[in-house]
Amino acid sequence: MDKLKDLDLEGKKVLDAGTGACGMTKYIEKKGCDAISIDINSEYLHDCRDQTENTQFIRANLSDLNALKSEVFDYIICNFLVSALSTNRYLILTSVFREFERLLKDHGMLVIIDYYPFDEERSPAFLDKSQVELWRLENAVYELLGEGHLVEYPPDVLKDELSALGFENIDIISLLEPVPWPPDLLKEHEDLIKKNIEKLESDRIKESLKEKLEEIMNSTGDRRVESGGIYELRAEK
Ligand SMILES: C[S@@+](CC[C@H](N)C(=O)[O-])C[C@H]1O[C@@H](n2cnc3c(N)ncnc32)[C@H](O)[C@@H]1O
Repeated sequence: MDKLKDLDLEGKKVLDAGTGACGMTKYIEKKGCDAISIDINSEYLHDCRDQTENTQFIRANLSDLNALKSEVFDYIICNFLVSALSTNRYLILTSVFREFERLLKDHGMLVIIDYYPFDEERSPAFLDKSQVELWRLENAVYELLGEGHLVEYPPDVLKDELSALGFENIDIISLLEPVPWPPDLLKEHEDLIKKNIEKLESDRIKESLKEKLEEIMNSTGDRRVESGGIYELRAEK
C-alpha cells in the first residue's frame, strides 16, 4: 500500500471496490476520505463494518450500481478485486469498468492493484514457473468443477479495455518485489488441489491432473517458490 502514499485522499470521495477482508477500507479510512465500500458478499461487509467507523457499506454487484449517482467519486480503488471478478470473465470486467467510468468525476482516478505473475517481459527475474503452473492447475480444476476462481487478466488487457471506454493517462506503475511463499502455503495449495481433483468424475482426467500436480511439486525441489507480479494500474477519466 506504500504505492498509494502519493495520493491525497483526505476529504475525497472514494469508492473501495470489493471490500473483502477490509485491508483497503481500513487504510483509506485512516487517510480521512469519505469512503463507500462495496462487496457482493454481505459477510465481508458485516465483518468490515465492525473494524471501521465512518465508512458506508453497500452490498451490490459492481457491474450494476444503478442506486449510485453518476460522477460522484474522486477515486475508485480496486485492491485485488479484478482477479476475483470471475463470473462471465471479460463480460463482467467490461460492465464493471463501464460503471466505474460513470461513477467517476471528470479527471477522477481509477486505481487497480492486483496480481499478474505471468509477465515475462516485466518481471523475468522473478518469474517462477512452478508458482505459475500451480496457479493455473488450481484454477483449471475449479473450472472443471464449475466453480469460481481467480482470473489471469494481463494488465495490458485492462489498459486496452479502459482506453476503449475513454480513460486516459493509463499507467501500469509498478510490479513489486517477489513475495516468497512459505512452504506451508505451497503444501496448503497442493492439498487443496488434490482434494478438488478427487471431486471430479472422470478417472482418466483425475489421473492426468494428479500426474501434473506431482510433476509441478517435484519441480519445486527444495527451493522456495516466489509469487511476483503485483502491479498497480492508474487511469484517469
Ligand atoms: C480479494 S477480495 C478484495 C480484498 C480487499 N479489497 C482488501 O483490500 O482486503 C475480492 C472481493 O471482491 C468481491 N467481488 C467479486 N466480484 C464482485 C462483484 N461482481 N461485485 C462486488 N464485489 C465483488 C468478493 O466478494 C471479494 O470480497
